[in-house]
Amino acid sequence: MGAMKFNLPADFYARYWQREPVLIRQAIENFRSPVSGDDLAGLACMEEVESRIIIEKGCAMPWEVRHGPFAEETFNSLPETHWTLLVQAVDHWDDEIAALRRLFPNIANWRLDDVMVSYAAVGGSVGPHFDSYDVFLLQGIGRRRWRLGGRVDSNTPLRQHPELRLLKSFEETHDYLLEPGDALYVPPNVAHWGIAETECVTLSIGFRAPLISELLEGSAAAISSELPPDLRYTDQLSDLSETLHAGEITAELVVRLHELVREYSTQEAFARWFGSFATERKYPADPEQLTNREIVENIQRGKSCRTRNDSRFAFLVRESAIDLFADGTRFECPLEAAEFIRRLCSDAALQQSDLQSWRDIVLGLAAQGSLAFN
Ligand code: SIN
Ligand code: CO
Repeated sequence: MGAMKFNLPADFYARYWQREPVLIRQAIENFRSPVSGDDLAGLACMEEVESRIIIEKGCAMPWEVRHGPFAEETFNSLPETHWTLLVQAVDHWDDEIAALRRLFPNIANWRLDDVMVSYAAVGGSVGPHFDSYDVFLLQGIGRRRWRLGGRVDSNTPLRQHPELRLLKSFEETHDYLLEPGDALYVPPNVAHWGIAETECVTLSIGFRAPLISELLEGSAAAISSELPPDLRYTDQLSDLSETLHAGEITAELVVRLHELVREYSTQEAFARWFGSFATERKYPADPEQLTNREIVENIQRGKSCRTRNDSRFAFLVRESAIDLFADGTRFECPLEAAEFIRRLCSDAALQQSDLQSWRDIVLGLAAQGSLAFN
């Protein structure tokens, strides 16, 4: 496909990102989806792949949802029109789709969720809805009409449906017809509805953002699991004053307790947890079990070695070390490893010399299935 570029308006991050939707004509010039409808159907028959078919009409119930993995015959029994097949995380399976993730250097890797790809028969759509995340809807094959509505939230009325969160009413504000290479950026909570004008393939490059409740819960659980099990609150003399009403929780006590919680919930401990959390795999691992000897041989034989498409990598520079996070595991590395780690986190292939210089890290990553050889 050559060097791809995603053309964003110059003021994209200042004006649109997380704020306003924007249509980007020829976001990728001469783009054509690397995967076809047939490729998607093939993926949707695989056990490890998460997929859905949404059929708007032509079945007993409108907006019927079926979940993969599918049998091949499923695809012969679908109506002519008005259905969509959606396949999650196609970037895990296809290098060219994975390359799309690198087109947004201004957005940290950990914010990326996946590239979902959909195939729609004529008239196919997943209905009027909103998502909680930012998404670039990149047209891959055929034409799709995107109707945009206003801003909505979890209080906006939905239609009765066991699974789909379809909006009860949809007030159109814009309407765009997208051709291959065009993209529509949709921020969280903006109503949208994409209807296939022809058979089409659409790629959704989706970003994720943690809930504050996830940050609180996750970090507190991780930090508390590292504390000595018998560390407990103790009274101070001031708690035992005679003037105290036995029913009162004093303001001073609250300050002291909250301080205590903060004392143990340090920024370093939070950062350690966050790096692991942010690089947890989307789906459980199925690592090739290689021995250290096989790993070394693979590299010495000149096999290309790089990060797996389904692995997540990030790093955090500290004063005296760098933490490399891969698939939820922290590797504490010396500052001298910075260049190697940056390369690793940009999905570049490892060099032979990396094995000599950073043997333990390479072996550790390979052993937990975060590297791929081919
Ligand atoms: C689709 O590809 O049909 C749906 C994508 C979306 O609206 O989020
Ligand atoms: Co959507």
